[in-house]
Order: sequence, then C-alpha cells, then structure tokens
Amino acid sequence: PKRVTLRTLREKYKRGEPISMVTAYDYPSAVHVDEAGIDMLLVGDSVAMVVHGHDTTLPITMDEMLSHCKAAARGAQRAFLVGDMPFGSVEVGPEHAVRSAIRMMKEGGMDGVKIEGGFTSRARSVAAVVEAGVAVMGHVGLTPQSISVLGGFRPAAQSASEALRVIREAKALEAAGCFAIVLECVPALVAAAVTRELGIPTIGIGAGGGTSGQVLVYHDLLGMMQHPHHAKVTPKFCKQYSSVGAVIQEALTAYHADVVGGHFPSEAFSPYKIAREEAQQLL
Ligand code: KIV
Ligand code: NA
Repeated sequence: PKRVTLRTLREKYKRGEPISMVTAYDYPSAVHVDEAGIDMLLVGDSVAMVVHGHDTTLPITMDEMLSHCKAAARGAQRAFLVGDMPFGSVEVGPEHAVRSAIRMMKEGGMDGVKIEGGFTSRARSVAAVVEAGVAVMGHVGLTPQSISVLGGFRPAAQSASEALRVIREAKALEAAGCFAIVLECVPALVAAAVTRELGIPTIGIGAGGGTSGQVLVYHDLLGMMQHPHHAKVTPKFCKQYSSVGAVIQEALTAYHADVVGGHFPSEAFSPYKIAREEAQQLL
C-alpha cells in the first residue's frame, strides 16, 4: 500500500477533501486503522487514560509513549504516523523538544509529532523541531496537558477574546512551521474561522464540521469503555460507531462459563494426539 506522506495530505487539503485521523496505541489497533484507509494515525497521550487507566494524560512518560509508538508502527503500513509528545517532553525549551522529537522518530518510528499548546514559547519549540527536520502538528483549544492551569477539562474559546486567542495561536503555530493543527473542543464557528484563516489543514475533535479533517480516540469511537463497573462516559462530540466493549464482555463471560461448566475445551479443541502404543506405556 502507498504510504500517506505530507505531500498526500497537502494535496487532499488543496482539493478540499476531508482528512481522517484516529488514535491507536498498539499493533492490532494500528492494523485495523490502516486497513480502514484512515489517513493519519495518532499515537496519542490519551493512551494514559484509555489504556493505562489514569484520570488525565499527564502521567504517561516518554518511554511509555515510545513503547506504544513502536508497536503501532509495526502495524501500520500506510497511514501517516504522528507521535504525541507527552507532558514533560517539550516544556523545558526548544532543545528539550528537539531531543524528544528525535526519539519519537528514531526510536518510535513515527513520521511526525504533535505538540500541545499555543503559547509563544511553545511556538518557538515547534519551530526548532521543524528546523530539526521533524513534521509537527499543533494542538490548540482544549489542551488536556494544561489541566493544572485550566482547572479541569472544559470546552475552549467560548468567549470572543478566547476565540481570538485560539486564532492567534493557530496562526503562530502555522508560522512556526506546523503542517496541520488539531482544534479540540471549540465551537464549530470558531473552528471554521481558524480553518479559513490558515493555509494548513485543521483537524477537529469536538470542533464541528467546518475543519479540514477529524480525529477521534479509538476506544471512544469503538465504544470500548463501556465496562459494566468502570464505564467511562463517551464525550458528547464522539459518535460511537460500535459497542466493542459489550462484544468483548459477552465473549469473556461466555468463555468463563464454558470453562467453569466443563464445556471448554471439547474434543474439537483438543488437537494434539499421542499414538496408541505410546499412550499404552503411560497406563
Ligand atoms: O491524545 C489524543 O488522543 C489527542 C487527540 C484527542 C487529538 O491528542
Ligand atoms: Na493528546
């Protein structure tokens, strides 16, 4: 299969064709994403929440992210691979960001990275990473790595001044060399305005239909977080395309019942034979 490159993405954007993106964190999910024809695969730091069970994205480490990146990269032959720079991997400054981004590429096998935040200092780090030869995706609006200063997960850009700040940040990130920008949880009108202002694709999540593309979290869109006693609410903006969690639960419950009931394994699942003469010596 032909690999999606920045050039492929740019051409899609120029033709006005929506770009699809989804997260994946391991080999099987990456295989599925790739097979579905999705343009970009994000190894997101959302893995901290949907795979590691943390309440925020903050605890995931660079080494943990790299392990997920490596596994996902082995499964994806076609999609453009974006590694999410975890909290603590860019903040110290441009040099720090460059060093971390290089690890994402060399060790993680990524095609590019995503860096959260639109502060001026962050745009400087983005520029340094781009200059180092790494494709960077920006991320503004709701930025979950800033939960400590934000005071919680809340939609962003709901006032004119905040909306103008998001537009300003997005433009600064474009100027810093980003190839695309994620807009998370902003009003559709604001996302559409940012999209009009920019000459690079915007990828929305909870940002309405006026962006250049869409991204969702794998577990949310598949309905995997519906464990009976640990159900996580699916975000309001996420369309649940399946109820995979329920399918998994049903299968595991059936397996358990089979084992405790003595129904598994039956003769059909006992494939290994010993010759009769050999067996006789055991008796
Ligand atoms: O980590 C993640 O899944 C993300 C997407 C929500 C864009 O950053
Ligand atoms: Na993220």
